[in-house]
Amino acid sequence: MKRPAVLFAMLIAFSTRAVAAVDYTKDIKPLLKERCVSCHGSVKQKGDLRLDAGALIEKDTHAELIKRVTSHDEDERMPPEGARLTQSQVGALREWFAAGAPFPSDEVIPKKPSEHWSFQPVMRPKVPKSASKHPIDAFIFGKHEPVPQASPPALLRRIHLDLTGLPPTIAEQDAFTHQSHPSHKSYESVINSLLTRPAYGERWARHWLDVVRYADSNGYERDAEKPFVWRYRDYVIESLNHDKPFDRIVVEQLAGDELPDRSLETHIATGFLRLGHWDDEPADPAADRYDQLDDIVSTTGQAFLGLTIGCARCHDHKFEPLATRDYYSLVAIFNPLERPRKGRTELTVPVDGTEVYTWREPSAKAPETHVLVRGSPTRFGDLVEPGVPVILAKQQFAFPKPTDKTTQRRLGLAQWIASTNNPLTARVIVNRVWQQHFGQGLVTTANDFGLMGAAPTHPELLDWLAHWFMHDAQWSLKKLHRLILTSRAWQSSSVEQRASSEGQRAKSGGSNPAASSSRSDSDSLPSALSPPLYRYRRLEVEAIRDSMLAVSGQLNPKRFGPAMKPGIPAAALEANTDKEKVWQASDEREASRRSIYAFIKRGLVVPMLETLDLADTVSSCPQRQVTTVAPQALSLFNGDFVNQQAKHFAARLKREAGDDPAKQITLAWRLALCRELTADELTKMQAFLREESLEQACRVILNLNEFVYPE
Ligand code: HEC
Ligand code: HEC
Repeated sequence: MKRPAVLFAMLIAFSTRAVAAVDYTKDIKPLLKERCVSCHGSVKQKGDLRLDAGALIEKDTHAELIKRVTSHDEDERMPPEGARLTQSQVGALREWFAAGAPFPSDEVIPKKPSEHWSFQPVMRPKVPKSASKHPIDAFIFGKHEPVPQASPPALLRRIHLDLTGLPPTIAEQDAFTHQSHPSHKSYESVINSLLTRPAYGERWARHWLDVVRYADSNGYERDAEKPFVWRYRDYVIESLNHDKPFDRIVVEQLAGDELPDRSLETHIATGFLRLGHWDDEPADPAADRYDQLDDIVSTTGQAFLGLTIGCARCHDHKFEPLATRDYYSLVAIFNPLERPRKGRTELTVPVDGTEVYTWREPSAKAPETHVLVRGSPTRFGDLVEPGVPVILAKQQFAFPKPTDKTTQRRLGLAQWIASTNNPLTARVIVNRVWQQHFGQGLVTTANDFGLMGAAPTHPELLDWLAHWFMHDAQWSLKKLHRLILTSRAWQSSSVEQRASSEGQRAKSGGSNPAASSSRSDSDSLPSALSPPLYRYRRLEVEAIRDSMLAVSGQLNPKRFGPAMKPGIPAAALEANTDKEKVWQASDEREASRRSIYAFIKRGLVVPMLETLDLADTVSSCPQRQVTTVAPQALSLFNGDFVNQQAKHFAARLKREAGDDPAKQITLAWRLALCRELTADELTKMQAFLREESLEQACRVILNLNEFVYPE
């Protein structure tokens, strides 16, 4: 009968030991994080105490801490809100203190928000010593050998698609690839020439429209058209084509109506403020008013500053040093705006006789703005003055004096954002441009440069670029494109990436992030550095659609003006109560314009655009998704649009190459893939044409991986 008792004693001994071995990482840190760090961490340090890293919890606070978590005095006990700590939690803290409060020596002490990298002034790091004369390559490759360059035909196609969203014509291919080793200069002259084409603005404006949540309709139940909103779209295209400095573009969009040199164009720019969702029959007008202001404040924060300020609407931001007071100081800047309307009908603002879709400030007298307690439009807290987030305002921030027409508050904000002293603006836009060219930003969270955002993979390169962009390039986006596109990093061959991602694509749909560093020769970069190189990836849907039109010979070059409506299959309209009237498709010629001119109806997105991952227009979209789903294959292989283009493509081949199948296929390859076809490909295609029509062959070519995944 002794044995059970012995066992029991052992069990007790064992379990006591287990309790004694309190583990900081497993038991203490999570407890402090959950119950204490929101007030005693890097963002807030109530009572001058931090509990977010072992090294910060000093011995002389141990007794006070235990006293506080065990206190029955409601004014003293910690945490001050919510349930008390349980006995076993208090026990664990005691045990840990008794054991000398050990913590892992490699525990990272979170930085204070004021020390966060993106809040520091942009300084210009020295360009590292390197064999390469190109500053970007010097940062990326240093003393290592640069990666190999893509082949001339592949690179020519890449440059054209990247800058204009259209493939090079045969004449352009001929002019270039007859040189067996095109020089750095010949690439540069192609880049320069493309940057002067209208097609550049039509391609790159679309990237900005994603960021500013552009759509042609309001969303919600009625989803009415936004009158003349396309003027804002045209403004963006024109601004890019004229290489308007980015700091000026910022100011015009936020305060074009308040500028001393305001014009029709700068008024149109403020359409930015009115692009969001809008409920024309809100159940609760007061709440709706703050929703609209929130749309502007949140978008402004994300688009220009990379800050998720919208999270501070109902409570202080839980992870960033942004208080509700900061949020409502920004609301106070936009609060003087009114949205002209008559009942459900939206009104435009007459400027110089033509109509402009924007808000307006009816007078220079600003309404009062209060903090709204928990975001509730009926619970007014403190009165706030207009201002910028305290964490970013190094000195008192002063607004210009009101004029007799407007408060000038937006102009003050815009000038502060567009200043070379603002630590965020240049970093954020340079990173966006980098992301579009390479497929991934140096900061992978393009709309979030805060504490919760990703850290830059190459901080010195990013800062060098931001500084260069402001001071050397004077905010010229074209200069930035030219700098990036002449680097070897961008011109690098993606063949090896392709080899290793080929197998995975079917599953993941994207390029393989690890693949770019898979080179093995000893001179190349250590794979851990994973250099930011051009990433092999799918084209955006606009570039796919526009390339198809260019190849089939149907692209209608008409620019600007009201949006066109591509066809929508009847089945997709079936669910609409108003299926006869909801979508009146344009005729084929009009619908064959570039995709940037397609009408974006929030409640009814053209299926081909939607399946191929058009930006979501609910809020600012930092980066397109690249999904791989079955309807894409259906849309590309069986969709009306693609079938139509295949038919035109075949007719074009017959027209231009005559009846010889070999000539037809050779021409098709050069038009669609911008290269000579191989002997093997020719044999296969000839065999195909013995069984199938030329039109079917064209359908296959438009569906080749190579067509939508440029090398
Ligand atoms: C909601 C905010 C909040 C939370 C959560 C919170 N505290 Fe506090 N704490 C305060 C404030 C405010 C003070 C300063 C006023 C005071 O001393 O009561 C403070 C003071 C203290 C002090 C005294 C510091 C000193 O030296 O005077 C200790 C110790 C403390 N807290 C421990 C904790 C611990 C441990 C937790 C988690 C179990 C916690 N607190 C959670 C707000 C909070
Ligand atoms: C429309 C109001 C509103 C907005 C906007 C909002 N929140 Fe909240 N959030 C709340 C409420 C209400 C709570 C629960 C009460 C509280 O903790 O204040 C909460 C709680 C939280 C909590 C849990 C806090 C805890 O102590 O457990 C986190 C984390 C949080 N929010 C993060 C965010 C982030 C991130 C955003 C922006 C993307 C955001 N919130 C935007 C209303 C909002």
